[in-house]
Amino acid sequence: MIETDFILKDFSLENITNGIFTWKTPSNIALVKYWGKQQPQIPENTSISFTLDNCFTLTTLEYKLKNDESEVAERSRSFNFEIYFEGQKKNDFKPKIATFFKRIEQYVPFLMDFELIIKSENSFPHSSGIASSASGMGALALCVMSLEKTLNPTMTDAYFNKKASFLARLGSGSACRSVEGPLIVWGNHPKIEGSSDLFGVKFPYKIHNNFKNYQDTILLVDEGEKQVSSTIGHQLMHNHPFAKQRFQQANDNISKISKVLQSGDLPAFIEIVESEALSLHAMMMTSNPYFILMKPNTLKIINEIWGFRAQTNSNICFTLDAGANVHVLFPESEKEIVNDFIKSKLIQFCQENRYICDGIGKGAILINS
Ligand code: PMV
Repeated sequence: MIETDFILKDFSLENITNGIFTWKTPSNIALVKYWGKQQPQIPENTSISFTLDNCFTLTTLEYKLKNDESEVAERSRSFNFEIYFEGQKKNDFKPKIATFFKRIEQYVPFLMDFELIIKSENSFPHSSGIASSASGMGALALCVMSLEKTLNPTMTDAYFNKKASFLARLGSGSACRSVEGPLIVWGNHPKIEGSSDLFGVKFPYKIHNNFKNYQDTILLVDEGEKQVSSTIGHQLMHNHPFAKQRFQQANDNISKISKVLQSGDLPAFIEIVESEALSLHAMMMTSNPYFILMKPNTLKIINEIWGFRAQTNSNICFTLDAGANVHVLFPESEKEIVNDFIKSKLIQFCQENRYICDGIGKGAILINS
């Protein structure tokens, strides 16, 4: 599919007045990382992620057709919306949402015909350092698609999901991997059938049982605001001395992990996933200007994990996002021993001993309409 396939051309506002949708949309954790992009949010390399379950954003969109004369005159010129986060009106969130609406305007032109109220909340603590942009933008894109579906009820589910992912991508790249689950690929890749730069697709091959219900315990090492945003981080890949090699490495890792996910080869999985996490952070450390998002406790945890794996032959491993928190990944069959290890050895390195137990999820769900 190409961009123009996502432009809604004909629609009727007849019989539509007002309504409400709520979408519960999970976060995701990349196994092969996206770091570096071209306009408009086109990834420099393919990425693949586990969709999470317990870490999600709940977003409600209330819509009302503009109907008085001045409103109607305004229709084709502006977006009218209010935004609430965890019960509080958040005017400081408006510019980000306005930019998103502007970017998606040509694909969803009906948005300007409505007054919108967006209400959002996260299941995870606000300051936890868990990126809420993936689940937040994913949830908003899905609400917008539910509105489109009321204007165009014959739309197929496949188109709905593709376009939701396409719109989410324009809000935040990784958000396009939060619409469905359990494993999503984003970025055109010759070894992944149906893959696209424009939206995320479900990993199209049979996933080995070893990865069913894979666990992700997120250790909250540093709950503060990140010193360098991912927007800046992506930009710094433009003149990065190792950019070309990094994009090649990631695309090679997609070919490798695709086989591993089908064969169930856990040692090979661990090697790819940990190398990807460290390569992502190596890019940050070798950018100009350089920066480090890991904290001393991030490294202590990594060393503990390596020690435990060597001693026990466990298949525990780690990955990192653009921050100091550590995602501890392990098969469901090792839940008990790994949880004991986490509690006895790793929790001490978390801020206020905080961590979140999560696992692979199936994707976003519509709560009401
Ligand atoms: O979606 P963004 O622009 O916040 O970028 C996210 C990048 C990483 O989380 C570091 C990696 C990834 O693929 O999710």
